[in-house]
Amino acid sequence: MKTLASAAVTTVLSSLLLPFTTHAQTSLPEAQVNALESVFGKHAGFRRAQAKGLCASGYFVGNTVGRALSSASVFSGDKVPVVARFSVGGGNPQASDKSRSVRGLALQFSLPQGEQWLTANISAPMYFVSRPEQFLPFFSARVPDPATGKPDPINLKLFSELNPETTLQAAYLARTPVPSSYGAANYWGVNAFEFVNARGKSQFARWQFVPEQGALGLTDAELKARPDHFLADELRQRVAAAPVAFDFKLQLAEIGDVLTDPTKVWPDTRTVVPAGKLVIDRVEPDAGGACDRITFNPLVLPKGIKPSADPVLLARAAPYGVSLGRRLSESAK
Ligand code: HEM
Repeated sequence: MKTLASAAVTTVLSSLLLPFTTHAQTSLPEAQVNALESVFGKHAGFRRAQAKGLCASGYFVGNTVGRALSSASVFSGDKVPVVARFSVGGGNPQASDKSRSVRGLALQFSLPQGEQWLTANISAPMYFVSRPEQFLPFFSARVPDPATGKPDPINLKLFSELNPETTLQAAYLARTPVPSSYGAANYWGVNAFEFVNARGKSQFARWQFVPEQGALGLTDAELKARPDHFLADELRQRVAAAPVAFDFKLQLAEIGDVLTDPTKVWPDTRTVVPAGKLVIDRVEPDAGGACDRITFNPLVLPKGIKPSADPVLLARAAPYGVSLGRRLSESAK
């Protein structure tokens, strides 16, 4: 029999889920995209997450460490052409660049013989949900109340207390300075992947793109003085002066490390090895460009890199497809 407390929690949780699950025929990926629209608004033609951004390009060169860990052709040592999209967190294309949200770095590697590698990375080492089922109630608790323009503080507090791991990313962002440049932020892949080398040896790892010139955040005074939109022009000017490079590093998992929960960072003591270099040498003059038609589905992987069993990773492809379908059909009108 249910206790009174568990019945109350079930009732509140059901009400948190309600706005997005009233139609039995709505699939989970569609409901997830609806949830993003409910919080950030529906902005025709734009991505429902990381809506504000710009497109750039360059190349990637892998090294011997990468080749020892994976047979993927991206590590061959040859220059691999890359399309990159830098973005600001959330579904609002007018979001302020001063927001304490994640910055994104999404990449399309064009490999020999038509093979592709797609990846979308963020400027935090953890994600905000540990399971795909938390995505809906996470956003449901954040839907603004029309009366106040703010989320209901009681719903929000209750959801956070019941799901404390969903507060870790916001806590990280609150204590980390806002990036001064798309080219001066550290980007993590967050989900774990399996690297398999030519001899069939397997190693699980998480990757990060570390800016060669260092991660540089704004002081509170600098943040105050910046306009709301500075990141795109700053990157254009930076790249016009000199290419911007990132070291591609792999954090190697050890036995017992959690491979299936993107809210759990691994200990700092884990070995981190450089496996290649990303160079951005061109930025599109306006928003869009080649990136518009790409959805950076992180399950499109080259032979030699496999997904882990992380359910959040496995759940990413479908909502990305839903968002792509909506924004492309809207911009075609
Ligand atoms: C259940 C989990 C997730 C859902 C429902 C979700 C949903 C979405 C959606 C709908 C888009 C827009 C796709 C498009 O229109 O092309 C998107 C983009 C993005 N997501 Fe996720 N996401 C999830 C997990 C993650 C994780 C774990 C990361 C962390 C690495 C991440 C990072 C990004 C980035 C950087 C973009 C922007 C890519 C670009 O520039 O096109 N997402 N996500």
